[in-house]
Amino acid sequence: MSDRLYIFDTTLRDGEQSPGASMTKDEKIRIAKQLERLGVDIIEAGFAAASPGDADAIRAVAEAVQESTICSLARANERDVRAAGEAIKPARSGRIHTFIATSPIHMEKKLRMHPDQVVEAAVAAVKLAGEYTDDIEFSAEDAVRSELDFLVRIFDAVIQAGAKTINVPDTVGYSIPALWGERMRELIAKVPNSDKVIWSTHCHNDLGMAVANSLAAVMGGARQVECTINGLGERAGNASLEEVVMAIRTRRDIFGLETRIDTTQIVPSSKLVSAITGYPVQPNKAVVGANAFSHESGIHQDGVLKHRETYEIMSAESVGWTHNKLTLGKLSGRNAFRTRLDELGILPDSEEALNAAFARFKDLADKKREIFDEDLRALVVEDHSHFDEERYKLVSLKAVSETGELPVAQLVINDNGAEKHVQAQGSGPVDATFKAIELVALSRADLQLYSVNAVTMGTDSQGEVTVRLARDGRVVNGQGADTDIIVASAKAYLSALNRLVDERERAHPQA
Ligand code: KIV
Ligand code: ZN
Repeated sequence: MSDRLYIFDTTLRDGEQSPGASMTKDEKIRIAKQLERLGVDIIEAGFAAASPGDADAIRAVAEAVQESTICSLARANERDVRAAGEAIKPARSGRIHTFIATSPIHMEKKLRMHPDQVVEAAVAAVKLAGEYTDDIEFSAEDAVRSELDFLVRIFDAVIQAGAKTINVPDTVGYSIPALWGERMRELIAKVPNSDKVIWSTHCHNDLGMAVANSLAAVMGGARQVECTINGLGERAGNASLEEVVMAIRTRRDIFGLETRIDTTQIVPSSKLVSAITGYPVQPNKAVVGANAFSHESGIHQDGVLKHRETYEIMSAESVGWTHNKLTLGKLSGRNAFRTRLDELGILPDSEEALNAAFARFKDLADKKREIFDEDLRALVVEDHSHFDEERYKLVSLKAVSETGELPVAQLVINDNGAEKHVQAQGSGPVDATFKAIELVALSRADLQLYSVNAVTMGTDSQGEVTVRLARDGRVVNGQGADTDIIVASAKAYLSALNRLVDERERAHPQA
């Protein structure tokens, strides 16, 4: 059996199924390029048949990425497979991932299909996919609750039809590691020609065991793991890429496997995905959480100072933490700025976007003496490429809060070229600011999330704000960063509103 483990990232597909995480084409391209830099083997870029926007985004990712295989999901029917096949055409290496549910409950209640019809549809889909590519993956949705004999039958049939990767998903996050490892072992032992394909696993985190189950499947013989950055994904999410990869690397003594991942790109990838989707990373999250490498107890600190490995099983640097490295200051020029962005892997694509980012950097340097890598990330991560086309822009803001008085916010907002002056009171300055913005936007949107994170240490840190708004079944996230968190909040709210009114914005991919 091979000692290579393939990493299949589905942040742009399963990850995008998280509420409010739907991404624009440009955002997908930026994440895909970072995944390529990270060394991901296969990038599942979307679900082509879901909408023309999805298909277009997959095509654009396929054009932009050279080193990773680009994959589209497709249900086992002609329309989906053809849409996937067309979307991956520009890819240097393209894969079609077709799936159908195989558990009794899904076949009977959801598909309303007889098991024989399910096998027939799976075989037909795999054969049709063969018209577009040799790289075909088949998934048995809800394999965790499927009968072993039926899985053996359908996997045998799709391998004969041309499938090269067989994926065994725990769609509902129901398994436990010992059983999941055993299931993989049994399948590999019973399915004819199992040595001719790559076995894969795809685990959801409903019981918090997605990573443990994925690793158990690897011990049972799987050589591909499907995962997402920060564990993003449907409901409780998918297995987190960073945890799977670092477990395989740190416990090489147990697994004896290699991946192609450049682990120093893990933290930059995590930050990019978090900023674009608006999903913050919990501080105590393994590998990419802000506290993952900080030692509070005196005994631990003493131990680490004497010998790092007393309490650290991997180094912060190995996963890309730069320890708030002081990088640039007020006097730094455009070249130094460009070089550092390039080193961090966040250099904007166009000179125009670079110039705009440099102008924002100069503004920030006027307010904040020391600029860290984290500040630069916050600065360039917001997509300003469509700034000129955005409907709402913040011109100025004044917020007053005083003990015993209701806070008040006065704003000037540019609404499609017209400057509007508004004022509102609120329970706090942020509440007053949002109420004032609503006097212009009249959005009727429901505020579903408001969160603030300090980008770096210290009270002069930038605050990075995420706002999630919902209206008529659409959910969007907006971000804003500034040393003044009221201004950051206003920017985040306006950015969410701009997405709500933007024609380019895609609806929830599987709505
Ligand atoms: O969770 C799941 O079963 C899936 C399949 C489409 C692979 O996402
Ligand atoms: Zn899934």
